[in-house]
Amino acid sequence: MSKKVTIGIVCAVIAVVIAIVIIGILVNSYKKLSSDEVGIMYDTFQKVLGTETLKEGLHRGPPGFEYIIFPSVFKSITFDDLQCLNRDAVEIVLDVTYQYKVRASNLTDVIRDFRNYTGYLKVLKLAGRSALHESCSKFNTAQFQAERGAFQEHVEKTLKARYNGLNTDINGLQVSNIARPEEYEKAIRSKERAREDIAVAKNERPRLVTEADTELREAETQAEIIKDKALSDARILYNRANLEAEAIVTQYQMEAEAYQNVLSESGLNFTVDGFLAFLGIRVISDASNPVYVSLQSPARSSYTKQGTT
Ligand SMILES: *[C@@H]1O[C@H](CO)[C@@H](O)[C@H](O)[C@H]1NC(C)=O
Ligand SMILES: *[C@@H]1O[C@H](CO)[C@@H](O)[C@H](O)[C@H]1NC(C)=O
Ligand SMILES: *[C@@H]1O[C@H](CO)[C@@H](O)[C@H](O)[C@H]1NC(C)=O
Repeated sequence: MSKKVTIGIVCAVIAVVIAIVIIGILVNSYKKLSSDEVGIMYDTFQKVLGTETLKEGLHRGPPGFEYIIFPSVFKSITFDDLQCLNRDAVEIVLDVTYQYKVRASNLTDVIRDFRNYTGYLKVLKLAGRSALHESCSKFNTAQFQAERGAFQEHVEKTLKARYNGLNTDINGLQVSNIARPEEYEKAIRSKERAREDIAVAKNERPRLVTEADTELREAETQAEIIKDKALSDARILYNRANLEAEAIVTQYQMEAEAYQNVLSESGLNFTVDGFLAFLGIRVISDASNPVYVSLQSPARSSYTKQGTT
């Protein structure tokens, strides 16, 4: 009885253990892939890689297998502030984003080449960077300014060619920023400003020339007026001075004749000119106001005349 019971218990335990092992093996043989994954089975004990690319769902494989999993949807790679040299050897800074997806049908090739997703992504990024540098070097600075669309197309074409060899598709590419170095931008801006300033100056020139011409003509007219007035004033003054001088001379001549008459009668003898000189000196030295008389120096010339005769 007790022996039978013991055997029965042992059998039950064995059965339970076997059941647990079977369940364990079964559980270990089924693994799930989610909807955004594709994968290939890898037998970790036998080190054997599966040949079939599996999609979302529960799949049975050798006990204790693993999936080598890749995304089944497009993922993004972004390059921020990627620096490259363009055809003019000017440094360009790029922000580029694009979407990639591994070709599920070639997944075994990819895994043989890159082992797993980590290794694959690393190579994708290097290839992308290299494609961007290549495109960058094909465009000069002016083209970066004027032909951004063409640049984007070129980048996309180059990337597609490179990623084709990596069994990867590209879907959409965005070049969100193309920046030239700050120094270069500054130089461009100041050149633009200078160009505008020159245009403004050119537009202003006829107006300024007209203004200057008008001013010149005004000044010339003004000068004429001033000159005419000065000449007329001078003529008036000259005539007045002449009249005054004549009046004075006449007056003195009359006086002189009168004196001469007086003197002749008293026996003294003078020439009219000599007497006038004498008289002039006397009158001028007596005068309280300045007196202007137009006289030769008759005293001297008449003395010399007398001396020679
Ligand atoms: C990718 O797979 C296709 C067939 O599915 C095959 O024709 C092609 O050669 C493979 N490409 C590479 C690069 O292995
Ligand atoms: C891929 O393999 C490398 C080394 O071979 C390992 O360090 C890394 O964790 C693996 N990545 C994934 C996602 O399994
Ligand atoms: C004085 O005058 C008279 C007549 O004018 C003249 O004939 C005479 O020679 C004069 N005398 C002297 C000394 O000059």
